Amino acid sequence: MEDRAITTSHGFSEPHASPDADPSVLQIWGGNSLHGHVKISGAKNSALAIIAAALLCPEDCRIRNVPLLVDVKRMGQILTALGVKLKQHDDILDINASVIGQSKAPYELVSQLRASFFVIGPLLARQGVAKVPLPGGCTIGARPVDLHVRGLQAMGADVQIEHGIVQAHITGSNRRLKGAKIYLDYPSVGATETLMMAAALADGETTIENAAQEPEVIDLANFCNSMGARIRGAGTNTIAISGVPKLHSTDYSINPDRIEAGTFLVAGAITHSEISMSPVVPDHLTAVIAKLKHIGAQVIADAPDCLRIIPGDSLKATDIETLPYPGFPTDMQAQFMALLTLSEGNSLITETVFENRLRHVAELNRMGADIRVKGNNAIVRGVSILSGAPVVATDLRASAALVLAGLAAKGKTTIQGLHHLDRGYDRLEVKLLKLGASLQRVSESADVDSRAKISSPASNV
Ligand code: UD1
Repeated sequence: MEDRAITTSHGFSEPHASPDADPSVLQIWGGNSLHGHVKISGAKNSALAIIAAALLCPEDCRIRNVPLLVDVKRMGQILTALGVKLKQHDDILDINASVIGQSKAPYELVSQLRASFFVIGPLLARQGVAKVPLPGGCTIGARPVDLHVRGLQAMGADVQIEHGIVQAHITGSNRRLKGAKIYLDYPSVGATETLMMAAALADGETTIENAAQEPEVIDLANFCNSMGARIRGAGTNTIAISGVPKLHSTDYSINPDRIEAGTFLVAGAITHSEISMSPVVPDHLTAVIAKLKHIGAQVIADAPDCLRIIPGDSLKATDIETLPYPGFPTDMQAQFMALLTLSEGNSLITETVFENRLRHVAELNRMGADIRVKGNNAIVRGVSILSGAPVVATDLRASAALVLAGLAAKGKTTIQGLHHLDRGYDRLEVKLLKLGASLQRVSESADVDSRAKISSPASNV
């Protein structure tokens, strides 16, 4: 933990060197059996929304269980650029947004992190004006922000998109958004969060119908309520928010990361290892646990916040369709695909949330998997072994899938594109080493077997 609190001149700690400048590769020698217990960090997607929501509060906010991630660092840098004070120590982040000196988020940062668009809701609610560059598309899909924009307009904001910047301001004399009845065409996580934050300080009652029900939406609502917001129904498809004029100081701890926990469950299954993990909220993993059980693994709750995976002797195929929560999470699709490559029989994976989220298929096939893609379907024919190979991570969860495949493969796997991994996994290598994996991060020049560097575009899930 001592490496976590190096305060920079920007007043926000530097968890890693610039990832894009990092030419490292991860070497994994597969075949080790894992054992032991792993500590699960705070949820990345909760942390990003909650840090944005701290802009709503003119008093001190203490946020605990903040994961050490490049994405979290970038979100902190956006707040710093807006003139907000941040201080990090270990996994505690103190934010004081009593003064917001800027209403325009910097393009260089927003373009690197889609979640940074979420500042538009709190900025508008607090300042009456917000200018946030369009986050743009990314490798997993086009990812528009139309639902965020339409919801803000329904609350009375004037929103124009000019020169790639979403410019929003509140019209009317009292400089407050107005409560509104909003129906989302799709239960978008980001749009639900943006609108919930904006409505927290609005004048009157807002309802969001067909809202996202993800646990991170509940975490954000709980954080806002701990500051005096009045949000009801988070976690259901209808959220009601009674606006209040002002929020107050809070001390809040982020929920554990269900995707990190899911990734470790798959790590146990794919390496035929028994590993346990905590803290977790087992209910957040219902769909993932159901699929693990279906293919022949056991998942046991040793305690209310502790899960253990007991792998079966052999695993069998299953079909998966990604869906909004409580369906199977798109953020676990790539990791589960890695597992199904080694499961007996044919599996069909259908990605319905993002239109271009099967790019890891080519890399898994390079390791000996047998996967064919047709549209948004991947047909996985189980093979008996994977073999280590040089591969390139194409996005965050794809990078985790390659790590998992590498842990199970025969021989050495070398993964390029580690900036994706660093965006979303808190010290994954340290945790895997403790469990008995054999891996190391080295500079690319030190990895003589690595193939020529293939550039992979940035992705920002
Ligand atoms: C969040 C998560 C991401 C997860 C995703 C789906 C964060 C920081 N990221 O992303 O890890 O994979 O939920 O569970 O929380 N859409 C529109 N218009 C909009 C908004 C979204 O068409 O205005 C579409 C998107 O293009 C996508 C789908 O809706 O196809 C789902 O997106 P959304 O739920 O908004 O995901 P994010 O909030 O971006």
